[in-house]
Amino acid sequence: MAIIEVEDIFFTYRDGTEALRGLSLYVEKGERVALLGPNGAGKSTLLLHFNGINLPRKGRVTILDREINSKTEKWVRSRVGLVFQDPDDQVFSSTVWEDVAFGPKNMGLGSDEIESRVNDALKAVGMTGLGGRAPYHLSYGQKKRVAIAGILAMLPEIIVLDEPMAFLDPKGKETLLDILNLMHEKGQTIIIATHDVDFAVEWADRVIILKDGRTLAQGTCDLLRDSALVEEASLRLPVVSRVFQLVPGLRHRPLPLTIADAVGIINRITQRCGDYLKGDGDDECGK
Ligand SMILES: Nc1ncnc2c1ncn2[C@@H]1O[C@H](COP(=O)(O)OP(=O)(O)OP(=O)(O)O)[C@@H](O)[C@H]1O
Ligand SMILES: [Mg+2]
Repeated sequence: MAIIEVEDIFFTYRDGTEALRGLSLYVEKGERVALLGPNGAGKSTLLLHFNGINLPRKGRVTILDREINSKTEKWVRSRVGLVFQDPDDQVFSSTVWEDVAFGPKNMGLGSDEIESRVNDALKAVGMTGLGGRAPYHLSYGQKKRVAIAGILAMLPEIIVLDEPMAFLDPKGKETLLDILNLMHEKGQTIIIATHDVDFAVEWADRVIILKDGRTLAQGTCDLLRDSALVEEASLRLPVVSRVFQLVPGLRHRPLPLTIADAVGIINRITQRCGDYLKGDGDDECGK
């Protein structure tokens, strides 16, 4: 069942830039979707349509069976949580606590519920104890965490994150991945715009590749084995695939995408070559 349906949308910025030009795609309920594409492809512009900040000039965006327009934009904001690419566009209250509480307050929740949601969200992003800090004094990565916490506290059915990994340290990325996995287990639909193909292949159920304001391709992560498509989208093959491509004896077809795929292939080779690896085999191994 499609939870988001985008049909042939066009969007033009005030200065005349045609950012989306006949873009169509769908997202199914409970899916983890990675939205890929070069700089300027239209990813952020598209994501702003998912909670009604942008409305298409032409075409239609339907979310949870409702068309998004000026009458439904308020409704959609309680269903879709959007973490902006730049936390400076999102984090604006005088304290971290107030900022995370902003969404739940707007939803009209009671004070106990707000308190517990804010505390849970700050804990989830590793910011417990920093609720009293002024957001503008935080580091960029910390602001990013606060922006994510603000969306988590709203418990939206659909969560959309624009480049969430940018500026997070390795531990912060791991924490975010744990949060995303937990949300996926709870049945939430998650869409992430990213340039990180290694993250996409390890995490996504499906990838959607944009270019020049249109959908270039959508499908499983297998799309990312297609060197011509990857080149056209200004992406690159996942690191694992590149390693296998570079080693003559490992040029398997199809190339592995994930670490697990690669380990599976290496294990099969080492089993076949057990004697050789122990030093008492001959040179035939791997040929
Ligand atoms: N506020 C704006 N006013 C005018 N043009 C804009 C505005 N924001 C984006 N654009 C233009 O719209 C097009 C799509 O930009 P968008 O930010 O959606 O791309 P993106 O895929 O998110 O890129 P990136 O990977 O760099 O984040 C680009 O040509 C960009 O220059
Ligand atoms: Mg962007």
